[in-house]
Amino acid sequence: MEEIFAVKGNIIFTKEFGKYEIMEDGYIVVHGKSIKGVYKELTEEYRNIRVEDYGDSLIIPGFVDLHLHAPQFANLGLGLDKELMPWLEAYTFPEESKYSDVHYARKVYFSLIRELWRFGTTRSCVFATIHKNTTKLLMDLFADSGLGAYVGKVNMNRNSPDYLTETTEASLNDTEEILEEYCGKYELVKPIVTPRFVPSCSFELLKGLGELAEKYNVPVQSHLCENYGEISFVKSLHPEYKNYAEIYNGAGLFGDVPTIMAHCILVDEDEIELMVKKDLYVAHSPNSNFNLSSGIAPIRRLVSRGVSVGLASDISGGHSLSMMNVITSSAQAANIKWIESNRVDQPLSTADLFYLATKGGGKFFGKVGSFEEDYEFDALVIDDRNIPAFRTFTVEERLQKFIYTGDDRNIKERYVSGKKISEPKVY
Ligand code: GUN
Ligand code: FE
Repeated sequence: MEEIFAVKGNIIFTKEFGKYEIMEDGYIVVHGKSIKGVYKELTEEYRNIRVEDYGDSLIIPGFVDLHLHAPQFANLGLGLDKELMPWLEAYTFPEESKYSDVHYARKVYFSLIRELWRFGTTRSCVFATIHKNTTKLLMDLFADSGLGAYVGKVNMNRNSPDYLTETTEASLNDTEEILEEYCGKYELVKPIVTPRFVPSCSFELLKGLGELAEKYNVPVQSHLCENYGEISFVKSLHPEYKNYAEIYNGAGLFGDVPTIMAHCILVDEDEIELMVKKDLYVAHSPNSNFNLSSGIAPIRRLVSRGVSVGLASDISGGHSLSMMNVITSSAQAANIKWIESNRVDQPLSTADLFYLATKGGGKFFGKVGSFEEDYEFDALVIDDRNIPAFRTFTVEERLQKFIYTGDDRNIKERYVSGKKISEPKVY
């Protein structure tokens, strides 16, 4: 029998975009991995269950990072003085080539997972490298940690340095080997098909990956319309397609299975229509978009059109793994977009962005990112007593203060799928 227990504290989450649900000094009842409900008082049937009383702390859903590059953790904060394409050549590809080395990969990947844990990122969608052995290692390390993740072996067979280029055949075979081995291996860690982006994958490779995604019924993640230099290169590679999105679509990689496209800054109206039609997820990474001079994604417009959006660190284009930091820069990006659009694209509130950082991205994982009934219990306990307060704040104000001025030290506990997760340990 799975245990029923409750956590007690000041509960705040978002069921809908932009609207907080708040229960001060309330209980979340959890049965196994799932939530039974949020209550002001425990009802008769729960009278004797174990209660973890977190006092005056906030209890919020765990953060979801919808797009990041695990090997680039080693480059965090380095080399952010170039645009996307030269940045990949100068800093990123040389670093990613090192992940044929299992010892090096283990060191970086373990450390990354510990930092994700520290910052309260309970679920993430992760790019590894082209190397199959260390991609498997990354999945095993995530599984050991108890955090949830989709992890993809990256595919690259063209326009990449020799030291980071696969043959089409090896790329597809290695991907399929991972899908065979890992689709059913773990409950919280799953493989995802991961063509890097059109410039580094021939159409033949993209098509083969689309077929694998369909055959194994696994999701897809890639990059779309991030940067001017990238887009003009894609146009020169595929003049036969009317836009970037249609290339993925033609290969079965655009929403035929659940699909995340990172960035989507420069998407045109036809691409937005296709994204709506095929239920695409957009991973929004403002830190990366600022650092690599890519621009500001039209998030308000995408959300209004019904596109699913989650927030993402995109390290090491982004310089911070903290989803609190990503929420903050998403707000700043939206403010500037508002001004730039002559005050048409309304800014995004903390409640809007908190939704995107929890349930918005969480939907990609199933019932994740909210405290509604039947949702998996992913939660953070926030002790904000060290944040200066010169009057009494509401729970909503305390959440804002934590996001804008707090840090990982305020996160006292992390739960994933009903289990309390302790700091990952090397063994
Ligand atoms: N497009 C293709 N590869 C990458 C990457 O590693 N980072 C970012 N930000 N964009 C990409
Ligand atoms: Fe990326």
